Amino acid sequence: MGKLTGKTAIITGATSGIGRATALLFADEGASLVLTGRRVDLGKAVEAECRQRGVRALFVEADQTQAGDCARVVESALEAFGQIDILFNNAGIVTKGTAESTSEEDWTQTLALNVTAVWRMCRLVIPEMRRAGGGVIVNNASDWAVVGGKGALPYATSKGAVALMTKSMALDHAHEKIRVNAVCPGDTFVERWLEKGYFEGSDPVTLEEAMRESAAYIPMQRFGQPDEIARAALFLASDDSSFVTGHLLLVDGGNTAQ
Ligand SMILES: NC(=O)c1ccc[n+]([C@@H]2O[C@H](COP(=O)([O-])OP(=O)(O)OC[C@H]3O[C@@H](n4cnc5c(N)ncnc54)[C@H](OP(=O)(O)O)[C@@H]3O)[C@@H](O)[C@H]2O)c1
Repeated sequence: MGKLTGKTAIITGATSGIGRATALLFADEGASLVLTGRRVDLGKAVEAECRQRGVRALFVEADQTQAGDCARVVESALEAFGQIDILFNNAGIVTKGTAESTSEEDWTQTLALNVTAVWRMCRLVIPEMRRAGGGVIVNNASDWAVVGGKGALPYATSKGAVALMTKSMALDHAHEKIRVNAVCPGDTFVERWLEKGYFEGSDPVTLEEAMRESAAYIPMQRFGQPDEIARAALFLASDDSSFVTGHLLLVDGGNTAQ
């Protein structure tokens, strides 16, 4: 028996990074999985990896900023598995900029995905969880949900909103046995950092040096790994955290302790 045997979990943004790592871990723990994202090839590959671990898995191509796509994800989950026990609102984008330099487009896109889509997915699954007598929502926030972030105004604003959405929903639905918590990762190394030239423009010549310098401000002197965030999400999604709701679980190598 895995910690999630008999449960169905929706994981948004499961095509890469933390979402993919969480999908694989939840599969190891026996969950039936509905996985979303826009990159179909990657989504299908994660779906296959989960099935190889012996669980049922379904990738649903979806742009979470679109209300119709969110509804289709929930409908597909119910059609395939008949229940939704866990929602991991993981899909998110990082946008940089100050109040002055942030474009209208970046602002709107960031809030549409990082905030509105989270609310929308919760709004869709809560009636199903209530009908089933309970459920668990885990939101992926950030350490920048609890402290300000320099040069990333739309992102930090969006994650701050997720933190209070988490606490407010926890209060609204605690009596219905629906727990709502957030995992708050610090800098976690994902492939996107390489694809989008995350370290471009930094002085050191090698990626390794650039990463070492960037990690130096973290008390544990390193970045997190997706699997370390996935394990925190598993704690919040499973009965191991049965008396935990409205909590922001920082997984940041001590970053926000300083
Ligand atoms: N890595 C970190 O340092 C860090 C730190 C704190 C918080 N986080 C949070 O962790 C979450 C996952 O990010 P990650 O670091 O794992 O990066 P990632 O590998 O880029 O993952 C982002 C996921 O979101 C999906 N996504 C993006 N836009 C989408 C859209 N419009 N509709 C549906 N899915 C969409 C992507 O899939 P498609 O591109 O296929 O759509 C991808 O699966 C985010 O909420 C992020 O804010 C990350």
